[in-house]
Amino acid sequence: MQIKLSQDTEELNHALEQAKKQREISISEFFTKNRHLLGFDNPLKSLSTTIKEGVDNALDACEEANILPNVKVEIKQTTQDRFIVIIEDNGPGIVKQQIPKIFGKLLYGSKFHKLSQSRGQQGIGISAAALYSQLTTGKPIKIKSKIGKNKPAYYYELHLDTAKNEPEITKEVEISWEKEHGIRVEMEMEAKYQRGKRSVSEYIKYTAIANPHATLSLVEPDGTKQEYPRATTQLPVKPKEIKPHPDGIELGILINMLKSTDARTLQSFLTNEFSRVGSGTSKKICEGANLYPNSRPSRIAKQEADNLLNAMRKQKFIAPPTDCLSPISEELLKKSLKKEFDAEFYTAVTRPASVYRGNPFRIEAAIAYGGALEKDKPAEIIRFANRVPLQYQQAACSITKSVIRTKWKQYGLHQSNGNIPVGPMVITVHIASAWVPFTSESKEAIAHYPEIIKEIKLAVQECGRHLGKYLRRQHKEKDAAQKQSYLEKYVPIIGEALKEILPDTKPTIVSKNLKEVLEKSRK
Ligand SMILES: Nc1ncnc2c1ncn2[C@@H]1O[C@H](COP(=O)(O)OP(=O)(O)OP(=O)(O)O)[C@@H](O)[C@H]1O
Ligand SMILES: [Mg+2]
Repeated sequence: MQIKLSQDTEELNHALEQAKKQREISISEFFTKNRHLLGFDNPLKSLSTTIKEGVDNALDACEEANILPNVKVEIKQTTQDRFIVIIEDNGPGIVKQQIPKIFGKLLYGSKFHKLSQSRGQQGIGISAAALYSQLTTGKPIKIKSKIGKNKPAYYYELHLDTAKNEPEITKEVEISWEKEHGIRVEMEMEAKYQRGKRSVSEYIKYTAIANPHATLSLVEPDGTKQEYPRATTQLPVKPKEIKPHPDGIELGILINMLKSTDARTLQSFLTNEFSRVGSGTSKKICEGANLYPNSRPSRIAKQEADNLLNAMRKQKFIAPPTDCLSPISEELLKKSLKKEFDAEFYTAVTRPASVYRGNPFRIEAAIAYGGALEKDKPAEIIRFANRVPLQYQQAACSITKSVIRTKWKQYGLHQSNGNIPVGPMVITVHIASAWVPFTSESKEAIAHYPEIIKEIKLAVQECGRHLGKYLRRQHKEKDAAQKQSYLEKYVPIIGEALKEILPDTKPTIVSKNLKEVLEKSRK
């Protein structure tokens, strides 16, 4: 009994000790330890990720405000392993009050709660870059913002208080800035600069391909300037915001929606908060769930919500609307590829819209073949999601999987089992979706949804068929040209020989007949 008591006290003490250590973890503390989850795992990738976050935001902001984007990136080296990154855009700018939270607080943004196609989704990108800069150099993020021609510009220097996940303003002044509107962000960070595969310059080049309406420039640390002027002055069609489609909805989300809706009745909740639910269908759902159509949504208990979801799952809904999607288009994809790759054949395909888990998406594929492209190497695969190039985790991406699973031999290319086809070829695949299913928060690879894989394969196969047709025609022409060159080589010799065999025949007749043979071979 004595022993049991002392054991109980020990356990109690242990629990009390533990209680002292148990406390909330702020999101910034979490990502300070897990910054690799956001794409900041090494100096090379961190630089790329920072620029990607800044440029993606600049392009999103410009397009939302119907402005043709003009985005400048500059990288300056300060010490062996430190660089200053500057990203400047001509977008609508950010109002003064919002600047600290946008750049100094993780999970703060305008895109997470709306369902429409945009590059950013999570509200974490640019503040994570600021956090990485602060962690590696202790320097603040510096921001200039101007929202209109006759408005003042503001300059901010911010730190991020990681324990609270709140911004700390270290400098805030009104300045003059010759620009009409836009944002300029500057961060200093530990980084590594390198050219070639998965580099910043590759990212900018690929961004230009998927965004032919944008003018982009990059100044590298050695002062080299790369410029990508826009290929079109036509802004992409603005994707419309949509409501969730009932096919994809999960119980937890449904419960939250029931709690936060302004709708007064269950029937109007269903028709107002979801796309493709009409009043007839919503009545049927209520009946199926044994609930009154005019019950108050906030009063629906958990079990009733479960019944509601089951009744929704039994209904057939029309596919979600697709005006929330903005594909690049076959014509512009080809135009961009022509600008960046010196090939001899180009083709592109935009597939009709399809749906995964209730989210609409469209797949586009394009191929550039031949010309100056490298011959005996696996084809280069360029992956895009909502016009953003994906540079990492190629093998884990469903785009790569779909390219590998396509049978390229039938289009006249070499391919060994389970590999990327070999040849002078660039294969581009773009997924445009209201919500891109990435395999992780760093947004590097597309998850393996069967519906997505199927659509990518169909798009790639169609491009493959165009290429196969072109290659067969090439082959035929080459064959005919070779035959003709043989004839041209041997006809004079045959003529001479015939003259000897048939000395009485007039040479003009011999040469006339041979000429006819040659002409026929040309046809
Ligand atoms: N250059 C900019 N011009 C105008 N608004 C901007 C700019 N950069 C960021 N914003 C605003 O700040 C918000 C936060 O940006 P942030 O990059 O952190 O998240 P996000 O783009 O919403 O999502 P993600 O984490 O996927 O990038 C954006 O949603 C946008 O409203
Ligand atoms: Mg962003």
